[in-house]
Amino acid sequence: MQPIDLRTALDGFDAIWSPRIIAYLNDYDIRLAKVAGEHVWHVHNDTDEFFLVLDGEIDIALREPAGERTVTLPQGSVFVVPRGTFHKPSSKAGAAVLLVEPTGTLSVGDDHEEVPDHVDVTTGHPVLD
Ligand code: NI
Repeated sequence: MQPIDLRTALDGFDAIWSPRIIAYLNDYDIRLAKVAGEHVWHVHNDTDEFFLVLDGEIDIALREPAGERTVTLPQGSVFVVPRGTFHKPSSKAGAAVLLVEPTGTLSVGDDHEEVPDHVDVTTGHPVLD
C-alpha cells in the first residue's frame, strides 16, 4: 500500500460513470468517479452511499416518500443517499466525486431503470487498471 495522490489518480482515467477503487477501509471501498450527464435511476437496498464532490458540481435526484426532490452538491460538499432511496446523480458540466460504499456494491444498485450505454455497470475497477 502506497499513498495515492487524488489528482494523479483522477488524471489517470477518463471514463465517466466508471468508478475507480483507490482504497479499502474495512469492508468498504473508497472510489473515485468522473461524471457527466445523467446516471440512471437506481436503488441500493442494503447500504447508504456517501458522496464527496472533489471538482465541479453534481445534482442527485431522490424519490422520497413525500415526493421527488433534487439536491445540488457544489465542490466540497458531502451527501449521503440513504439505503432504499431511488436516486439519479447527474452533472451538467461534469464533475469528479469520491464515493464510500461497501465492497461489492454495484454502481447501478440492486434495482434500476434501463442502463444507458454511457453508464458502466461495475463494482468498481482497481485504480491501477
Ligand atoms: Ni447509487
